[in-house]
Amino acid sequence: MNLLNCDAMNFFHNKNILLGVTGGIAAYKSVTLVRRLKDQGANVQVIMTESAQEFVTALTFQAISGNPVHTSLLDPQAEAAMGHIELARWADAIVIAPATANSMARLAGGEAGDLLTAVCLASKAPVALAPAMNQAMWSNQATQKNLQILKSRNIEIFGPAAGQQACGDVGEGRMLEAEEMTEKLASLFKQKTLSGIRVMLTAGPTREAIDPVRYISNHSSGKMGYAIAHAALEAGASVELVSGPCSLEVSERIQLSRVESAAQMLAAVQRNINEIDIFIAVAAVADYRPRAIEGQKIKKHADTITLELVKNPDILAMVASLQNRPFCVGFAAETENLEQYAKQKLESKQLDMIVANRVDKSDSGFNSDYNSATVFSANSTTEFEKSTKTRLATELIGLIASHYINDEKITEQHE
Ligand SMILES: Cc1cc2nc3c(=O)[nH]c(=O)nc-3n(C[C@H](O)[C@H](O)[C@H](O)COP(=O)(O)O)c2cc1C
Repeated sequence: MNLLNCDAMNFFHNKNILLGVTGGIAAYKSVTLVRRLKDQGANVQVIMTESAQEFVTALTFQAISGNPVHTSLLDPQAEAAMGHIELARWADAIVIAPATANSMARLAGGEAGDLLTAVCLASKAPVALAPAMNQAMWSNQATQKNLQILKSRNIEIFGPAAGQQACGDVGEGRMLEAEEMTEKLASLFKQKTLSGIRVMLTAGPTREAIDPVRYISNHSSGKMGYAIAHAALEAGASVELVSGPCSLEVSERIQLSRVESAAQMLAAVQRNINEIDIFIAVAAVADYRPRAIEGQKIKKHADTITLELVKNPDILAMVASLQNRPFCVGFAAETENLEQYAKQKLESKQLDMIVANRVDKSDSGFNSDYNSATVFSANSTTEFEKSTKTRLATELIGLIASHYINDEKITEQHE
């Protein structure tokens, strides 16, 4: 058993999971999903729509889940006990996999004409959907609009993945595999360690204008900062992200301020910093900017030109020096002497933690989807092996949350 399964098992032990299966080709994958969830200690009940039963039999799900499958809203036997309300109350989480375009439309429209939609409407449990459909159906404006409506109601969307489709098309619309679904479902049960905590992050590069068409910048893609912002959101925090120029997607539940230069980033951070509990400075802020920005494009006349640079404000140092400062986490992206530079930064800026990572490797760091890190605090060092930035972000948020909570406890004891 791998580490993921060990982790997930704690989250699923004795949890009641209601699986809704709708009428798509991917319905067969949900049989494996039931098996994985059962293996990890969950109680699983299944609702199948009428169409779903054309793809996989109810008997299959009954055998694998160990429970009778629910197929009808107007089932006299079950309805004697208000079956749909009973199921709605029973569920700790509802997952619809696969979720057809049709079922998404019904849910978005608040319909309750079949057992599955009626249960979703009647339940207070978190709901997750794993959409699966032809790529054109997925990208259709109608489906995308329904998706936005569902997201705005805090319904979790797992996937879809891109790739070869059953109909021969290639594109987005494949249902996630059972293992990935299980991991994502586990996150619904994770304790929300940062519930009620306000987190602000900076991410991405800054651009320091030379003239109206040129600027100085760096290779930061923003991927690490955006991943941490989403991990903080998943951990229950309310998140504000101040982002330099990058074209990454961001959840609607994150308050996003877009900026270009270091000066603009500083101004955006200062606006709300007094309301913030944890500040995480991931942005690769340019250390210097041109002293003056030319009003017109510099012409190519001289053989050499000299650009005079002046130091930019140090945003993290400014935040860390505030009287009522938030818990401050810095990033040190270095190409040499990683530990020494990171520890110097931790001390000189009086940070609570610093995340050090090497950015001279082509397979991790800037622009890559992978990263490794060493995190230093005043009295601890934690190593994180190379992994995807998404996974690393979740682990970093876990560590930051535990240090922050400990700090708060110590402060309370002294008061
Ligand atoms: C062979 C076949 C495969 C289908 N696959 C999908 C699919 O993968 N995703 C989807 O959204 N609809 C798919 N459909 C269409 C749905 O089955 C149809 O919209 C149905 O009304 C969905 O009902 P339900 O959402 O109540 O299960 C497929 C239809 C057929 C005939």
